[in-house]
Amino acid sequence: MRLEDKFKQFEERNKLAEYGGGKERIERQHKAGRKTSRERIKDLLDPETFVEVDKFVTHRATDFGMEKNKILGDGVVAGYGKIDGRLVYVFAQDFTVFGGTLSRANADKIIKIMDLALKMGAPVIGLNDSGGARIQEGVESLAGYADIFYRNTIVSGVIPQISAVLGPCAGGAVYSPAITDFILMVKNTSYMFVTGPEVIKTVTHEEVTMEDLGGAMTHNSKSGVAHFIAEDDEIAMMMIRELLSFIPSNNMEDPPIKPCTDDINREDESLQTVVPDDPNKPYDMKEIITTVVDENNFFEVMPYFAQNIIIGFARMGGRPVGIVANQPAILAGVLDINSAIKGARFVRFCDAFNIPLVTFVDVPGFLPGTAQEFGGIIKHGAKLLYAFAEATVPKITIITRKAYGGAYDVMSSKHIGADVNFAYPTAEIAVMGPEGAVNIIFRDKLNEKDKKQAVEEYKRTFASPYKAAALGYIDEIIYPKQTRYKIIQALDMTQNKAQSLPPKKHGNIPL
Ligand code: HXC
Repeated sequence: MRLEDKFKQFEERNKLAEYGGGKERIERQHKAGRKTSRERIKDLLDPETFVEVDKFVTHRATDFGMEKNKILGDGVVAGYGKIDGRLVYVFAQDFTVFGGTLSRANADKIIKIMDLALKMGAPVIGLNDSGGARIQEGVESLAGYADIFYRNTIVSGVIPQISAVLGPCAGGAVYSPAITDFILMVKNTSYMFVTGPEVIKTVTHEEVTMEDLGGAMTHNSKSGVAHFIAEDDEIAMMMIRELLSFIPSNNMEDPPIKPCTDDINREDESLQTVVPDDPNKPYDMKEIITTVVDENNFFEVMPYFAQNIIIGFARMGGRPVGIVANQPAILAGVLDINSAIKGARFVRFCDAFNIPLVTFVDVPGFLPGTAQEFGGIIKHGAKLLYAFAEATVPKITIITRKAYGGAYDVMSSKHIGADVNFAYPTAEIAVMGPEGAVNIIFRDKLNEKDKKQAVEEYKRTFASPYKAAALGYIDEIIYPKQTRYKIIQALDMTQNKAQSLPPKKHGNIPL
């Protein structure tokens, strides 16, 4: 073969590989409102930075006539590139090739880039669009999945792992994302389920649509499996880029600092009146958060699930922080099973990746009721307590209003290792609210008038930050308008915090 023919052959193979499952299937993908794997990677990465590996890999299956049906790349596009100039590894399942299903050969492609990512200390981004295990490959495909799950687990907490679910993902295609740090889904075009509607109908006789069973909103609001929802594939890629801007490339690095153009001394008069006079009146904690962070930019995580707790990323003085906050506007900001789980996982992520925690507290306590008790609020609530206690990153806490009972202890209190604890003058720190306390202490011993008086006395004595401040549990009582500057000052003071836990294999968080 002449040299130019060799080059021509190379060019043709390249084209063929890039064509995936062919024109018709690509059109079907577009018609369904989804992009192809290559289009997604292009949207995700900085221009011209993608380096593809294993473009010519094919499967090695021979059953069911598969030996006659080989497509270059075998249903996964894999490689590395840059986001904001930082190295990332990416794999994108190609639904146009065997439904993006996992073969032994394409599992090896994913494994190769995961191993590289671990060695180089860079994030892995998985763009999932797959029917799960490739049925024709049987146990080889299951082995491929297990190899990926194993790596997902081993690299967890070492390099960030982000999953976008961008199509109908079934079976094994959902368990790898489930082990990763964040899952992003797209409205109306992405689905996740272990078994689909047909299987469910056969086994349990339930009739459920794909959307209700495993659509983006189901997993963002009901199951809490997913963390983000995007309008379309392109916006999903932009969201991943933004998410990564808050996160270091690995657990040995600090999160990336951005030059801060927002005045760090900024005082916000509006904050003075955010917390209402009436302690039973709700207000929106997000107002405080967005007011105090750089450029009012709060990147909320899981905005539709367990809305009584707020979690997300922001920058303060240019430094990324993880924010955890009770939301008095929803269920009075009470802690329940879902909010505890949501908060705990986020706290652990931030701690694993050196992201300081800023906690805003307005919590009346844990949610009472049989549903919560039978559901295991004891062990689930303990997750949040455990996560805050074991976190060794800088921890800064601001009590805006209520901090009652066990929830006071849980929400990054001084006692479980917070470094700086602030309270607004409106804070109420006690075992429980005044009415409840008086009812228990005096039970039926007081008439209505005396009860009222006792409540007033309790309010005077306990419903304030001063008892806690007198004991040194609160370091400083601050005006709400000073919040931004005070937090930035505390972050500055705790910048070089070095705390290590006693040597152990790992703790035993109540799962
Ligand atoms: C091989 C598969 C496949 C699979 C889909 N295809 N799933 N090929 N193995 N698991 C192929 C189809 O034959 C088709 O090929 C192409 O992918 C597109 O599939 P369609 O069905 O036409 O697409 P759509 O209507 O959009 O439906 C997508 C789907 C559905 C919802 C994913 O295909 C489906 O339910 N597939 C089965 C899902 C499943 O049960 N997977 C196994 C899970 S068990 P052509 O050639 O026509 O384009 C598992 C084990 C691991 O994953 C567990 C570890 C914990």
